[in-house]
Amino acid sequence: MLKDLRVYAHACSAVTHDRVAASKPQHAGRSAGAARVSACATLLVLTFALHAETGHDAWLRYAPLEGAALVRAQSEIPAVIVNLDNSPLAASANAESVRGLRGMIGRTLREEAAIPREGAIVIGTLDEIRQAMPQWNLQADLAPEGYWLKSMDSPGVHYTLIAASDPRGLLYGAAALLRKAAMGESVAALDEKSSPYAPVRWVNDWDNLDGSIERGYGGRSIFWDKLKAREDLTRVSEYGRLLASLGINGCSINNVNANPRILSPEMLPEIARIAAAFRPWGVRTAIAIDFGSPKTIGGLDTFDPLDEKVAAWWKTTFDAIYAAIPDLAGVVLKADSEGRVGPSTYGRTHADAANVVARALKPHGGILLYRGFVYDHHMDWQNLKNDRGRAAWDNFQPLDGKFDDNVIIQIKHGPIDFQVREPASPLFGALEHTNQAIELQITQEYFGQAHHTVFLVPMWKTALDFDMHAAGSTPTPVKALIAGKTFHRPLGGFVGVSNIGLDDDWSGNQLSQANLYGYGRLAWNPDLTSRQIAAEWTRLTFGADPKVDETIASIQLSSWRTYENYTGPLGLQTLTDIVGNHYGVNVEASERNGWGQWHRADEKGVGMDRTVATGTGYIGQYRPAVAKVYESLQTCPDDLLLFLHHVPYAYRLHSGKTVIQYIYDSHYEGAAAVEQYVQQWKTLRGLVDERRYKEILAQLEYQAGQAEVWRDAVNTWFHRESHIDDTAGRVGHYPGRVEAEAMTLDGYAVRDITPFEDASGGQAVACAARGGSCSATTKFSGAPGWYSLRVQYFDQTSGVSHYRVWVGKQLIDEWDADMQLPRAIRLDSTSSTRRLIPGIALRPGDEIRIEGRPGGNEQAALDYIEIVK
Ligand code: GCU
Repeated sequence: MLKDLRVYAHACSAVTHDRVAASKPQHAGRSAGAARVSACATLLVLTFALHAETGHDAWLRYAPLEGAALVRAQSEIPAVIVNLDNSPLAASANAESVRGLRGMIGRTLREEAAIPREGAIVIGTLDEIRQAMPQWNLQADLAPEGYWLKSMDSPGVHYTLIAASDPRGLLYGAAALLRKAAMGESVAALDEKSSPYAPVRWVNDWDNLDGSIERGYGGRSIFWDKLKAREDLTRVSEYGRLLASLGINGCSINNVNANPRILSPEMLPEIARIAAAFRPWGVRTAIAIDFGSPKTIGGLDTFDPLDEKVAAWWKTTFDAIYAAIPDLAGVVLKADSEGRVGPSTYGRTHADAANVVARALKPHGGILLYRGFVYDHHMDWQNLKNDRGRAAWDNFQPLDGKFDDNVIIQIKHGPIDFQVREPASPLFGALEHTNQAIELQITQEYFGQAHHTVFLVPMWKTALDFDMHAAGSTPTPVKALIAGKTFHRPLGGFVGVSNIGLDDDWSGNQLSQANLYGYGRLAWNPDLTSRQIAAEWTRLTFGADPKVDETIASIQLSSWRTYENYTGPLGLQTLTDIVGNHYGVNVEASERNGWGQWHRADEKGVGMDRTVATGTGYIGQYRPAVAKVYESLQTCPDDLLLFLHHVPYAYRLHSGKTVIQYIYDSHYEGAAAVEQYVQQWKTLRGLVDERRYKEILAQLEYQAGQAEVWRDAVNTWFHRESHIDDTAGRVGHYPGRVEAEAMTLDGYAVRDITPFEDASGGQAVACAARGGSCSATTKFSGAPGWYSLRVQYFDQTSGVSHYRVWVGKQLIDEWDADMQLPRAIRLDSTSSTRRLIPGIALRPGDEIRIEGRPGGNEQAALDYIEIVK
């Protein structure tokens, strides 16, 4: 305790306000000056009162069991643990079991070398256990990496076996036993065999060698810094432990947009160090490579995959890598996509490219994950027959059967790019003689990044469970296809683009951890339900209180639909700035450019016509049973309508509602749902440790403000375009809203905002007075009473402005605009932020004055205020 206090006191004096803001950006401003003091005071109390939780332990907290669960576990868990297997993986299984049980039941198991004549947990492969205890006559047929949790009663003695066919299975078995105990389940009469659904269960970490992370929102890289592996790789082993608890068996450690340097000889020891940190956790290291490497790194004059020199170079290069890292899992390759070089340079095929690399990996048992994410990003947008959605199928279906056996085509779950709603990629149903894997994006690139809570498991399950009708009348859900079950492929599985970084809580948002957990659990068993996964994660992460479980589940399970509602419903896709930060609203950003994320909305109608009859023909890439459903407006599901069809705004959905009214309504519903999340979360005060409670509250409050920005921006755009009014009269009418440009301005100047929909009324006010301040004033004219004041302002990254709010002569609130929002450079929906000031007593004639003092290059800009009951 004393030590804690000293460390803490030091941190209090050292931490600057900015650093607090930079590492935990969720709070939408806070009272200046008081911030550090109160943060320190709060933490000081926590140091004594609670075991402060940062989120760092994630779902492996092993918190003490309580009540009946503790009593039962203490009676069921024996005093001894025996490990019969001498592999490093079994040593991890053993150590983790001791650690976990110590945390949960407060007892340290005795480690013994041989099976004693008293109860024990026994860790060993089937062969090892049979040898030690032939009289048990253990019979089982365990799949690779599978485990068997088995209670054995020898006369008068009770044993708990963690058996497996190989050491990796021991690790997964131990994790399963610990999970059971942590879930409060009995472990007295076990007979549970479990094996992974598919052999490949990887994560891809898009980390750059300089330590930044492509689409990473949880801090800098745990692997790399300044073109080398980090000195301290503790976080890599901790990550390995998290991954092992889920059964993840491979991780690629650098960006798919690979720096060719990864293959240069000086990187070998660096990769080897990372591989060593992962190894005890059964996570095999993989690397992403650049297809031009024979030329850029190898000094050849070509990288033509059919050139013998090139093939020889790949072979020598991988021979050297495997000499240093004999268990390298393999390679990820993005070629001919988004500016990456590929086989097209030499008129060769993707199969030529994949096979030349795969053949160099083959003798070492390595595999190649060749990305199906290949498309032309310079397409002519004026040609209505062009369609990026077609690209994966067009590129790879004709090559079915041409790939070597150690090649897997890694296919994004939808045909575009991790949008809020896409159909499952038709390519899954089209490869019969080629291995495939599904690529799911855990990091929330198009899902509000670290600032919005969106639980992605229900979306992934929609794709995994979708029946492709690829083999006559036998159901062929995507999960079966990618696991190789349908067409009896030797390899296949799951790849998740990970969401972790050096932040204390790994992902920059406590609730986003659930996505990594959920991905791993689905990769092991895609038949788990979203509710089961949410319940497990919540219990392991926050404890056993049923109210906590219900509340978090209710938020998480609705959060995808909610996000879809306030961003892009009906298959419109995420209406974000697709050429910028992929975060704020920009309805037109996807149009009139070659990137192909078109929604084709104009004044008459909306949606991409992907039909065979009149559109791009994309629907024809599905097997007939699926194509038939999608092609016809009568049967096309509403959720995907605008992804597959172009319709007028007055077109009626199956529900009877018009498309335009659905767009309006869903945005209001989405924004209201997030407001509701805030209220729901508040009911957990005291049931969740204070630090995480506050962080999540601040994040949800910010999200509620953003959801409103989205609501208004998207609705304003469609209203202006369609000229059709909202039947409920909401769009364009905001009770209690006073535009900043309509206030009495002193020093502030009016600015037009681009795109117009990103600010209410298309305008904001900004203060150019460096060193001074500006003010915007309005007179309250409503009935006397208690009100909340919402101040919509712009929090750019270029500085820290200070705001003060006065009612008459009384200062009622002040804060700094100190969030670190994603590339929030301009005055737009990304920087638009809300400050909520509740409980203000207003009387008619009261003067409300907002004073903004610019800081750095930020202009203390304002969009509007809202005075609401
Ligand atoms: C998305 C993402 C890129 C990434 C690409 C990929 O488009 O925005 O940053 O490189 O996917 O999957 O390769």
